[in-house]
Amino acid sequence: MIDDALLARLAAEHGTPLYVLDLDRVRAQVARLDAFDVVRYAQKAHPGLALLRALAADGLAVDATGGYEVERALVAGFDAARIELATDVLDRHALATVARHGVRVNLGSTDLIEPYAAAGGSRECTLRVNPGFGGGHSRRVTTGGPHSKHGIWHTELAAACARAQAAGLVVTGLHVHIGSGAALEELAPTLEAMGRLLRAAPASVARVSPGGGLPVPYRAEDAEFPVERYGAAWRAARDAWSAALGRPLELEVEPGRYLVAQAGTLVTEVRATKRTPAWDWVLVDAGFHTLARPMLYGAYHRIDALGRDGAPTRSQVVAGPLCEAGDVLTQDAAGAPRPVPLPELAPGDLLAVRDVGAYGLAMASNYNGFALPAEVLVTGGAARLVRRRQTLDDLLAPERDLDA
Ligand SMILES: Cc1ncc(COP(=O)(O)O)c(C=O)c1O
Repeated sequence: MIDDALLARLAAEHGTPLYVLDLDRVRAQVARLDAFDVVRYAQKAHPGLALLRALAADGLAVDATGGYEVERALVAGFDAARIELATDVLDRHALATVARHGVRVNLGSTDLIEPYAAAGGSRECTLRVNPGFGGGHSRRVTTGGPHSKHGIWHTELAAACARAQAAGLVVTGLHVHIGSGAALEELAPTLEAMGRLLRAAPASVARVSPGGGLPVPYRAEDAEFPVERYGAAWRAARDAWSAALGRPLELEVEPGRYLVAQAGTLVTEVRATKRTPAWDWVLVDAGFHTLARPMLYGAYHRIDALGRDGAPTRSQVVAGPLCEAGDVLTQDAAGAPRPVPLPELAPGDLLAVRDVGAYGLAMASNYNGFALPAEVLVTGGAARLVRRRQTLDDLLAPERDLDA
């Protein structure tokens, strides 16, 4: 349990803004997915090396988006057979990387088939199919349906399988990831779609995956995702397909957010407060360069003042240090400030931004010249710095040698 006192101590030791990741919480989430034969962690949610090392040691598989994530997974100790690169675009670096290490690719565009086959790595591929509908917490992360760039359109699956076979590939997996944060209502149509796709696919298909997208409760009033029901439904469907087809099918799941979101906290320091006729502002040292989700999706993250439980609160807007009006951590999807209840604050006070383990540090940037924050990993009550704050040297290195 990471309490406020520990967060305050870590902030004093390592400075702010500071990400803190609870590895025990990640492992508890993994354990809830035991209906699936393979849990493939979608590292885009949080590609931290220390986290990847732990998950590799725990026996998970891993999903990569590009060549560098493949290499990161190898460095973390995943062997090539446990890595799959899922993409709609194989750039030249990714192609060379998967070929060199024999990493299987989950192909989301049919034009990738021939280059992947010709590169001479793994002979196996997975096909990612767009089933014709999508889901997700924002249209920006809805990865199915006619408006999505992702996957092979479902009516083209048979042709894609023939094209893969003609190129010398064996299609061993089918994958349907419809979006991030999809609702349970999408479960039945997704199962039905996968059943249909399996009937159109060759007998070489030995693996099915719904991708990731399992939602997490960000708001106090959000219900927990009924993961046992979700897992049981996929397992029962897999058993039925397997019986009907007369061959075993391995069942994978590929969550990012579900494993890490609630394990992450961002500690940020109040540096100023001010009033405008519209709002009471709390200005902190974390902005959208630290946590992009509010700015990108109007995402909500609970924010608490450390050590101030029970203090009277009033509505305040929390904003960051960037020279950009949209640098507000409490905003709605249209970009309007969305005040949250916080106690009277003064410079030096610490805030905890909750549930930021997924797409938090992963999306942090150097915008406005800021350094990427540090991160501490906590497990079994022990805290360890796993990412140091960037230095000026780190920031300047790619340019300095070329700077005449
Ligand atoms: C192919 C694929 N798998 C898995 C994921 C993970 O999604 P989430 O973090 O919502 O579980 C994504 C996210 O976009 C994805 O594109």
